[in-house]
Amino acid sequence: MTVSFPETALRAADAATRNDIDESFGLPGAFYGSDFFALERERLFPSSWCAVTNASLLPEPGDAMPVDLAGWPILLTHGKDGEIRAFHNVCRHRGIRLVKDCTHAARLTCPWHAWTYSLEGDLLAMPEIGGEKINQAPGFDKAALGLKPISVGRWLDLVFVNIDGTAPPFAEWIAPLEALLANYDLSGLRHAERLQDTYQANWKIAMEAGIEDYHLPFGHPQLEAHLFRNTTACVHRPVYTGGYVDVRAAHTEDADARAWTARLPDLKTRDGKPLPLLYSLTLFPTATVLVTADHVMLGTLLPDGPERTRMDISLYYDGEAAHDPALAEARQGNLDMWLGVIPQDKPFMEAAQATVATRDLAGIATRLSPYWEGGVHGFQQMVVDAVGPGAAD
Ligand code: FES
Ligand SMILES: [Fe+2]
Repeated sequence: MTVSFPETALRAADAATRNDIDESFGLPGAFYGSDFFALERERLFPSSWCAVTNASLLPEPGDAMPVDLAGWPILLTHGKDGEIRAFHNVCRHRGIRLVKDCTHAARLTCPWHAWTYSLEGDLLAMPEIGGEKINQAPGFDKAALGLKPISVGRWLDLVFVNIDGTAPPFAEWIAPLEALLANYDLSGLRHAERLQDTYQANWKIAMEAGIEDYHLPFGHPQLEAHLFRNTTACVHRPVYTGGYVDVRAAHTEDADARAWTARLPDLKTRDGKPLPLLYSLTLFPTATVLVTADHVMLGTLLPDGPERTRMDISLYYDGEAAHDPALAEARQGNLDMWLGVIPQDKPFMEAAQATVATRDLAGIATRLSPYWEGGVHGFQQMVVDAVGPGAAD
């Protein structure tokens, strides 16, 4: 499969984004369209560690979840041994998608000719493959016809897959993020809430919208963002990009006015000191990670075609704070805050998508704020790194 996206356009984008942010332009509109998406499907998503779901969403042995990763059909299973595994969600007989909807089952049976697999991916049965009531045939070795496995990684509750097996070992890849957050003790995080939506916008527009705080006072005026408008870019290519905010100014204000520090117990730190920073990151390419003083947000923004993105994120608190009835009101307050904030971004993302073709035709290149949008600049560089001339070498 060879995708047609002009190498000259890739080289131009490489040159435009490679400069320091104050001298560079944003990605051209074509990078948010269908031809470039085809290139991403071929080069970017298969070779990356892509977060595809939260493990808490398949909590029991026997749970199985189909996931679409940029058109790649993937099956996640929670095996009897407690392991979460990933496979190509493709039956080894005639190749249809094996599992269509989330399910809980002892084994997985293809609806077409009833080939049956274990949750560990082994082929258990090929009914009547050799004729009526003959469940075997010469040359059909069940051991060689299990589901095709995909490498899995795990960080906190996020489940990652590397489709083509060429990414670095997961522990090596995730190490820079672990180093960044080394002072946090996140071992007691518990899943509390799940938020989902669909945007009519390319996955990159959705990611870019979540890692810059430039828009906070304009797009989310209720957040009192002037209390912590000092975002600093935080970029480690090719693992994470985004920014952090010093929230100490917000801490000094009336507690009721705090947008980011609800009235919930602080996350634990290894040095026992309160956390002055709030991190908002993309774990490239598909994970979104937000760490505040008292809660964590982990989730995915998965492309559903070039102009559609599925958002699926969850909120976590430390230990009992996730379920303690005495904190129900505080959790609800935090959830309400997010339910107010997140939909406010949607019209901006969709408006950015609406002009991607015409802005190229009109010769309009986007500019990023050197002060506020270093994380977006880092993200765009990672996109070019992953598919651009360098990636093709
Ligand atoms: S395609 Fe699955 S059993 Fe035939
Ligand atoms: Fe926003």
